[in-house]
Parts: sequence; C-alpha cells; structure tokens
Amino acid sequence: MQKSPEVTENPIRLSEEDRAKVGVLIRASHRSPMSLEDVLPWNDGIDKSKLPKREDGGWIYGTEQWRGLTGDQQRELLWKELARDISMFIWLEQTLPPLYVGYVNKYPFSLHPEVYEYLMIFSREEITHTLMFRRYMKMAGLPLFSPPKGFYAQFTQQLPTLHPVFGILSTLMIEWGTELSVMYLTQRDEVDPLTRKMIHAHHMEEARHIAFGKRVIESFFASTPAEALAPIRDQFAQIYRSYKDEFTFNRDIGLHTSFPFPIDVADDAAVAQVRTSENNRRLNSERLGELDRWLAQLGIQ
Ligand SMILES: [Fe+2]
Ligand SMILES: [Fe+2]
Repeated sequence: MQKSPEVTENPIRLSEEDRAKVGVLIRASHRSPMSLEDVLPWNDGIDKSKLPKREDGGWIYGTEQWRGLTGDQQRELLWKELARDISMFIWLEQTLPPLYVGYVNKYPFSLHPEVYEYLMIFSREEITHTLMFRRYMKMAGLPLFSPPKGFYAQFTQQLPTLHPVFGILSTLMIEWGTELSVMYLTQRDEVDPLTRKMIHAHHMEEARHIAFGKRVIESFFASTPAEALAPIRDQFAQIYRSYKDEFTFNRDIGLHTSFPFPIDVADDAAVAQVRTSENNRRLNSERLGELDRWLAQLGIQ
C-alpha cells in the first residue's frame, strides 16, 4: 500500500531552539507530576458560603436583573457560573488525550522526539485535570453542564481528521482564554480557598501547555505561505468570536438555577444585550487582552 505524504512528513516542525524549549517543559513536567490525591487539601472541603469568584465577574453583574436577585441568589448564580467554566474544562480536556495521542499514532516515525514526548505528557496531564475537576464538582455539589455546542463535536469528530495545527490552535485558544479568565476571577481573598487552590494548581500545568501551543503555532505561521494562512485566519477569527460569546454568557445557565433565571435565555436580543453589557466588555478586555493581542499578531482578529 502506498503511504500518503500526509502521514510520513513531520506536520509539527520546530527549530532547534524551540525543540530545546520543549525539552525544558518536558523536564519541568517530570520533576513535579500532579498527584490527584495530594494536589489539593481535599479534606478542607468547599465553603459555599464564600464566593467562587469575584462578584463583578458575574455574567449579568451590573444589570437590572442582577440587582433584582437576593444576595443568596446572586451567590448561587456565581457558583453555577463557575460550574459552567469547570464543565468546559472537563469536556474539552477529556477530548485532548485521544486527539493528541492520535497525532502520535498518525505520524509514528516523523515527529520530533520532543514533540512526541510532550504530546504524551500533555495527554496524561489532561486526564489528571479532568479527574480533579470531576472530584471537585462532586464535592461541591455543582451540576455538570452539557458539552459546549459545536465545540465538542469539533474536538471529537472533525479535528482528529485534520492537520494537527488545527487541533493545537483550537485547544490553545479555548484553554488559554478560559485559563486567563478563571485566574483573573478567583485568585482573591473572598474566594473559597479550595477553589482558589485548584485553579492555581491547574494553572501551573496549563502555563506549560500554553507555552507549547504558542511555539507550535508561531512556528507554523512563520513557515506557511500567506495564501494558505488566509482561510485559516478567517476560520479561527470566527471560532474565537463564537467562543467568546459562549464564554461571556451561556444560555444553559437558565437550566441550572434553583430560582427562575431573570433573563429569557431563548431571546436572542436579550442574550446579545447581556453579552455586550458594559461590565462584560470591561471583563473581556481585562482578562482576555493578552490572548487578543497574540491572536492579532498572527492576523487572527
Ligand atoms: Fe488542563
Ligand atoms: Fe491543558
């Protein structure tokens, strides 16, 4: 059988310098592998009388509907919103091991050894993260939201059939965005300590995943002709806009509050209004600025 060039050529080429940097990430990872049992003081429990994130990080914070809720309802809403963020991590991160190990098997002889090893490590780390997030959600009694529409099918069905750079950029965009946001929202005194520690522990490993993704993508963009990049730029600009919409306000929240949710989530105009509220515009520019700038440098905007 004839071998297709697609599977015999190295799809993730890095310079010597980048390969050495990936080597640094690999060593950091092996030095301190995350242990589910020890990563958090699980016995401390979760204090839901505290906040799960800063109050002004609420999706409808600052609106008339927010002001119409009681203090208990506002706090419950913030916890349910955090449940969406953690659900997003769970759904995304459990798709990554098959996707990334899939690349390892699709290109068995052509990957740089550092890329091979990092894809394996990345996958192992995401499995531990997914288990940590699921344990946390159970302890906190928080609901698992449905998989994000579109994205989940993309990660499980479409991306495995495409060039790895699509999977790596899709992953980077979502992980980096969500990661910037939860760090911005939770690393504060008023936040439940276990929640704050979990987000921080995850951040330590994600910072390496992000560094890896950035190197792969920057190197791909630097070595690919402009005409081949143009459709990729358009496609990812669209994906990023739709990711931001879903992430700023997700309609499924209406299914998870113990009280009638004060906005009609089936009303597109009402949803658009809350997504572009003054507070959400401020939040997105503060927490996502770094990612916006990096994407703009690649011509994705
Ligand atoms: Fe993760
Ligand atoms: Fe990750």
